[in-house]
Amino acid sequence: DMGGHDTYMHKEIFEQADAVDRVLRGRIDDRFSTVHLGGLNLDAREARGVRRIKILGCGTSYHAGQIGAQLIEELARIPADAEPASEFRYRNPVVDPDTLYVAVSQSGETYDVLAAVQELKRKGARVLGVVNVVGSAIAREADGGTYVHAGPEVCVVSTKCFTNTVVAFALLALHLGRIRDLSVADGKRIIDGLRRLPEQISEILAGEDEIKRLAAEYAEAKSMMFIGRVRGYPVAREASLKLKEVSYIHAEAYPASELKHGPLALIEPAMPTVAIVPDDDLLEKNRAAMEEIKARSGRILAVAHQVQEKADHTIVVPKNENELDPILMGIPLQLFAYHTALAMGRDIDKPRNLAKSVTVE
Ligand code: M6R
Repeated sequence: DMGGHDTYMHKEIFEQADAVDRVLRGRIDDRFSTVHLGGLNLDAREARGVRRIKILGCGTSYHAGQIGAQLIEELARIPADAEPASEFRYRNPVVDPDTLYVAVSQSGETYDVLAAVQELKRKGARVLGVVNVVGSAIAREADGGTYVHAGPEVCVVSTKCFTNTVVAFALLALHLGRIRDLSVADGKRIIDGLRRLPEQISEILAGEDEIKRLAAEYAEAKSMMFIGRVRGYPVAREASLKLKEVSYIHAEAYPASELKHGPLALIEPAMPTVAIVPDDDLLEKNRAAMEEIKARSGRILAVAHQVQEKADHTIVVPKNENELDPILMGIPLQLFAYHTALAMGRDIDKPRNLAKSVTVE
């Protein structure tokens, strides 16, 4: 049942305010400015012993894990990074007892992720799952973890599960941070930010008509560039993947700072750029990158917290706490990918060559 929507992708994009509300529900502890995650199976003493966190996933779940790693470093000050699960498994990784491994998966059935979990467990590592489908293979194999509570996701192209996974990581980061050095005031600041998300998501989705218009304007391109820095970079990667999967338009994602090391050679009027420009300490750097692109006659669509003069168009998104900005900035670009694909007559819920869960290697 698509509840009045023409595709599952559209329905799922519009379910995000409710889905985020669901992942927060019952978990916030205002008294200690922290959150409780029931199934982690990691007590405070064990959590304090964690020296590193390694996050493993594929595709969109990997991108959500990249933002998750940044959130963990920012809020809990534990070194963290994300890696594609398949690559991790084949490079004979050094498995360290003080590292906490986190497997991320919507379906909980992705073979590459499951196999990485099994290999880690064989080597005696502790593995948590950040999974959407309850009782799935990865959820069962993991030592503990947290469910993402996005609800069923039918479209092959993942949208609401990405957003909820990032929110689940924010909860994990807040929890780990508050057992370590994150202050009560910062804990409260993040909790207040999390509580603002559902309304801000609705606000973004209310701008659909404008995004649809922009999609029509940019989507004659053969190829598009997506750029961002630090918090904006995984957002750019995920937006680039969304556009590729559902519209089949070629897209590249780069850190804005890397442009001058090569990809700038691609910039010309026929190669528009989508720039993720949060209002944080990298704002001026991002403006400088947009200037470089304008100087090569590149067109720019910015996703930002205020109208960007250097850009040809700006999709303005509501500001949250800096750490939580990546959660919101990708949402208009889900709609951008959707409307681009719709205008091109693509099979939105089942893009060619793809399957919802990749249960083979
Ligand atoms: O079910 P999983 O999250 O483990 O799936 C991982 C990827 O296959 C998945 O995110 C894929 O990239 C989607 N088609 C993205 O929209």
